Amino acid sequence: MHLSRLAMSVGQSATLKLNELANSLKAEGKPVIHLGGGEPEEKIPQGAYDAAVKKLATRYVRYTATGGIPELKKEIAAYTEKNYGLKPAAKNIVVSGGAKQAIYNFLMAVVDPGSEVVFPAPYWVSYPEMVKLAYGTPVIVRPEPGKLLPDMQDLDRYIGSNTRAVMLNSPNNPSGMVYPESFVRELVEICEYRGVYLMMDDIYNRLVFDGAAAPNAFSMSKRPLDESIIVSINGVSKTYSMTGFRIGWSVAGEAVSRAMVKIQAQVTSCPSALSQAAAAGALAEQGTFVDDLRAQLEKKRDLLMGELKKLKKVKLHLPQGTFYSFPDFSSYEPDSEKLSKLLLDKAMVVTVPGREFGLDGHLRISYCGPERDIIEGVSRIKKVLDG
Ligand SMILES: Cc1ncc(COP(=O)(O)O)c(C=O)c1O
Repeated sequence: MHLSRLAMSVGQSATLKLNELANSLKAEGKPVIHLGGGEPEEKIPQGAYDAAVKKLATRYVRYTATGGIPELKKEIAAYTEKNYGLKPAAKNIVVSGGAKQAIYNFLMAVVDPGSEVVFPAPYWVSYPEMVKLAYGTPVIVRPEPGKLLPDMQDLDRYIGSNTRAVMLNSPNNPSGMVYPESFVRELVEICEYRGVYLMMDDIYNRLVFDGAAAPNAFSMSKRPLDESIIVSINGVSKTYSMTGFRIGWSVAGEAVSRAMVKIQAQVTSCPSALSQAAAAGALAEQGTFVDDLRAQLEKKRDLLMGELKKLKKVKLHLPQGTFYSFPDFSSYEPDSEKLSKLLLDKAMVVTVPGREFGLDGHLRISYCGPERDIIEGVSRIKKVLDG
């Protein structure tokens, strides 16, 4: 039977595929170490648990308003005010089935067939395929060899009359890099001048280390939110260890938010009522969940960096946030797919090839798992590569 050209052209998510592979190898009893993961190992916040149980006890779990329940929007507005110094109205917030759906809603709302979406490499694996799902063309800006930050002049050159949006993920998956304040500021100016949207994928923006904070694009613009070109994407998946609840959101101007709601209404009707209640519970909690998670991850980042430094020929970039690192292994093997496969075959360690993120020669190595896995995983990698 016929399958659409779109279905045939869209690639599988490399990271989800590797998760499945790691799980099936574990189920076969193989001593696999998964350093390719994308979720914290912590249990969900107590506030999320209590709110979900309370909702379930009502035995009424129905459709909600497409853009999200008022209780959650209220918490998101408070969260945005606290972390961005900007209090969005309910009409500026769209709750969705994970940050991924928020990004999809945004792309569907602004991309016409053939229009372009510009973003730097290394990028989150899903960006190119999601742009293609919206019948757009991904335009990738690569940094100079050995660097992770692209040249702003290069980026500016790639923005043309067909460009609808620029996407920036900071802190970045896969590198853990926080884009510098000056870079974000210049990008805001360029996007405002050129009249293109700037989608800030802020899903990791509270997981920043060394006492620093991720630059806040909203603070760099004088425009009121309803006239802003900035669309901020966030969610509870990473910062609250709630990946399975599938709750994310966008904060943006009214017109684009309304378009995103219309699209979501025809795709999923609304996000899960139970998960929305849990997300509101997580955000309302006044505890130290996010600070504790960040401290844990910072400790694991330091551990991983210490272990990786023992390798003879790896080039390291210190991750400033997230739970990923993106070392350069090209002195061992420039083909990252080949190297990742070798490490799986010979060391039983799962890593993600840099090519999936648009930069070959690197591997994404996560530090969201147990410390013993970090130590044992890197030691196995060393044995294979350094002998
Ligand atoms: C950069 C980035 N954006 C968005 C997402 C999607 O988050 P969610 O699980 O809330 O859909 C991820 C998840 O890995 C991510 O790494």
